[in-house]
Amino acid sequence: MDIDLGAAERVAAGIGAKALAVGADVGSAADVEASVAATRERFGVPHILVNNAGTTHRNKPLLEVTEDEFDRVFRVNVKSIFRYVRAIAPVMRDAGGGVILNVSSTAALRPRPGLTWYNASKGAASLATKSLALELAPWKIRVNALCPVMGATGLLEHFMGVPDTPENRERFIATIPLGRLSQARDIAAAALFLASDEAEFITGVDLPVDGGRTA
Ligand SMILES: NC(=O)c1ccc[n+]([C@@H]2O[C@H](COP(=O)([O-])OP(=O)(O)OC[C@H]3O[C@@H](n4cnc5c(N)ncnc54)[C@H](O)[C@@H]3O)[C@@H](O)[C@H]2O)c1
Repeated sequence: MDIDLGAAERVAAGIGAKALAVGADVGSAADVEASVAATRERFGVPHILVNNAGTTHRNKPLLEVTEDEFDRVFRVNVKSIFRYVRAIAPVMRDAGGGVILNVSSTAALRPRPGLTWYNASKGAASLATKSLALELAPWKIRVNALCPVMGATGLLEHFMGVPDTPENRERFIATIPLGRLSQARDIAAAALFLASDEAEFITGVDLPVDGGRTA
């Protein structure tokens, strides 16, 4: 599910016939409802919900972040979790349980300057994760957060606030003990583990996927 349906379709095509691509804006109540309905129609009860869609304001001094930018970041990074949990937790409850993963960030654990309101949105995602874990435990719904360190996705240049040159990347890589940026497959592997029955006793954690950045 993505606001960019073409991108979602490319990912779904890579996964194969079992995947369904849905276009939706996670900040829109109607879109959230429609995406949940489309998923339920195709697959039945959702066992796993991954709140991954995210955005940021560009890295800059906090007084330069506009109210519109603040609202956009919190709408996509925080309110989306509120909306999807409300739509899906009752369905999981009726089915006997489920797993929710929120893609937070090392920004929630070890913030970088210039990203204050993005950092705050991920702090909200991480704390919501812990509180949801407590409140949804009686329904056998586990809730965990993944905290990736910087990775070379569409957001990288906004996080750095400077052009994506090898020299600028080096400055950020120098802050990551294992000496590289995160890759999507690092986060996917951690998500697969947390969503699996191997993690059946793990709930309410922030799992850094960060090459040691927050150690
Ligand atoms: N890249 C990093 O350095 C990094 C580090 C830590 C955490 N994260 C988090 O990882 C998650 C995935 O980001 P990414 O790095 O893969 O960046 P990305 O830009 O490649 O992916 C984010 C996706 O969210 C989608 N999206 C944005 N607004 C949306 C909306 N309103 N409704 C639906 N979809 C929307 C975008 O179209 C995009 O496909 C985000 O939550 C991000 O905050 C990223």
